[in-house]
Amino acid sequence: MSFRTIIEPFRIHSVEPLKMTTQADRERAVRAAGYNLFALRSEDVLIDLLTDSGTGAMSRDQWAGIQHGDESYAGSPSWFRFLESVQDLFPFKHIIPTHQGRAAEKILFTAVAGPGKAVPNNTHFDTTRANVEFTGAEAVDFVVGEGHDPSAPPAFGGNMDVERLDAFLRSRPGSVPVVFVTVTNNSHGGQPVSLANLNEVRRVCDFYGLPLFLDACRFAENAWFIREREPGQESREVRDIVREMASLADGMTMSAKKDGLANIGGWLAMNDDELATRCRNLLILTEGFPTYGGLAGRDLEAIAQGLQEVVQHDYLRYRIRSTGYLGDALIRLGVPIVQPAGGHAVYIDARRLLPHIAPLQYPGQALAIALYETGGIRSCEVGTVMFGRQPDGTEHAAEADLVRLAIPRRTYTQSHMDYVIEVCADVSMRAAELPGYRIVEEAAMLRHFTARFEPITTP
Ligand SMILES: Cc1ncc(COP(=O)(O)O)c(C=O)c1O
Repeated sequence: MSFRTIIEPFRIHSVEPLKMTTQADRERAVRAAGYNLFALRSEDVLIDLLTDSGTGAMSRDQWAGIQHGDESYAGSPSWFRFLESVQDLFPFKHIIPTHQGRAAEKILFTAVAGPGKAVPNNTHFDTTRANVEFTGAEAVDFVVGEGHDPSAPPAFGGNMDVERLDAFLRSRPGSVPVVFVTVTNNSHGGQPVSLANLNEVRRVCDFYGLPLFLDACRFAENAWFIREREPGQESREVRDIVREMASLADGMTMSAKKDGLANIGGWLAMNDDELATRCRNLLILTEGFPTYGGLAGRDLEAIAQGLQEVVQHDYLRYRIRSTGYLGDALIRLGVPIVQPAGGHAVYIDARRLLPHIAPLQYPGQALAIALYETGGIRSCEVGTVMFGRQPDGTEHAAEADLVRLAIPRRTYTQSHMDYVIEVCADVSMRAAELPGYRIVEEAAMLRHFTARFEPITTP
């Protein structure tokens, strides 16, 4: 007998209080924050869906691992446990620990990119794009066509468009140092990439003699989707699917704050000895000695244990079903979302929900602010605020204006999600009343983290 109710495959062992606030409190708080949800004090947030990165709950065994953390500067046992755990899933020759994913990106792109170079990806995450562009190189995205329509539900909407990739590589001989595939495709609805697609990308990379790297932050969620959706994969162990994904690549960047089930950490991995030497030298400059990177021994232990837990089928079944639960409820309410729901997040299509707000008046930001004011839910705009500013300072509408409800791992219960659903229903009924916003202060790069906004009030 199988029941419909999703039960969390854990019980609660220690609790954190949530501060209850009123709508008036929240309106004051968001105004003081310059209408930027990143600038709020997190105590003023009731349900924090800003990101799934580093916000998950650790397990009893991870906390136990923390007690085993050995803080020796070099060659600590915690480093070797970390190394073994990473290489069990990703048997790359060189594993270079970093304090988080973007540090791995910074080191890699400093080593291989630069002016005149271009890095293709299915879709660059914002820090990945910024780290490529910071070196003077170009970051180009080739996600498959179906992925461009947020309402059409492809099984693998995160895939790379291999034909466009191939044409690009043909047109830019000598300028591409590495091809990237992001699993799952965070900036494109959290949609997965199939094994078949990875195989095709591999074939194209082999043809042009180029290395293929994975941005593997959500590798386990991606592997679960492969198991559920890709013909012939349904009876495989997720571990084995992950190993096959790794076998198709020459290296990876990783943020352990996602599918490492840890609150901090990451790594850079590769098979190329010469590249690894250059990267380790950069690591020593900015992160630390190569057996701890930017991490404490206790962090390495938490990641080592997290990697064992994240590939467990009971965990992944619960994880992906609970994200789907939120997505299905929003679809039933008529709220436009990217379909199917991603692994770690549900993305509301703010441009469709708020057609009266022009993209350059930031419909995603408007919706995110309304969700906070109404119900204390913190979400993240993934649209024109995040991607609209070009390296030359001009501004264009992004491909889509989405609002991401990212679900921290093992943190909120089904009743928290029922509350989120109620708040979304309320805001979507009042969608036509929401104002657009203008930016009154912004940084040249990654402006969404620090920009200040004000509502555009019609006379
Ligand atoms: C796909 C992807 N790549 C890279 C990163 C950067 O990782 P970190 O936040 O650990 O620097 C993230 C973080 O959200 C991500 O989602």
